[in-house]
Amino acid sequence: DTPGPVGPAVVLVGPMGVGKSTVGALLAEWLGRPYRDTDDDIEAAEGRPISDIFVNDGEPYFRAAEKAAVRDALRTHDGVLALGGGAVLDADTRALLAGRPVVLLTMDVDEAVRRTGLNVARPLLAVNPRRTWRELMEARLPLYTEVARAVVTTADRGPEEVARAVLEAL
Ligand code: S3P
Repeated sequence: DTPGPVGPAVVLVGPMGVGKSTVGALLAEWLGRPYRDTDDDIEAAEGRPISDIFVNDGEPYFRAAEKAAVRDALRTHDGVLALGGGAVLDADTRALLAGRPVVLLTMDVDEAVRRTGLNVARPLLAVNPRRTWRELMEARLPLYTEVARAVVTTADRGPEEVARAVLEAL
């Protein structure tokens, strides 16, 4: 028998705006593997943007959809996978990530605010982005580090350099 699918070659986790999509797409190109993003999967399944889902159905509804999307992607995708910034909030999701090639992309709060502060497509940052960022990072950093095999800081580095660091870290 041939072995079954091995799952994603790389899983990127980390806060929104850190560059998971850009770096992930670049890694996929370099590795000659497909790129997938659970946010895109959720939007495709729901037929509407994530901001709509948050506004009309609330965050718990979104998290349930996200949990299903991550589970499905881990089972079916063998390329590069980027997870939404809050996917690690779910304990079952964290358990599913154990033993996977998970890399945390991270940045400091100043860079986070600079990158995402004015992005209205990100419903969690609509009000007081700096305080929200600090609280988000404090709450989530332990969860990110729990699942990540390696940590890559994006500060002052372009996507190529970050992508190279991800490959070196694995
Ligand atoms: C979220 C991050 C977003 C998206 C949603 C919630 C979060 O994904 O899933 O807006 O809770 O951090 P990205 O990290 O891809 O922006």
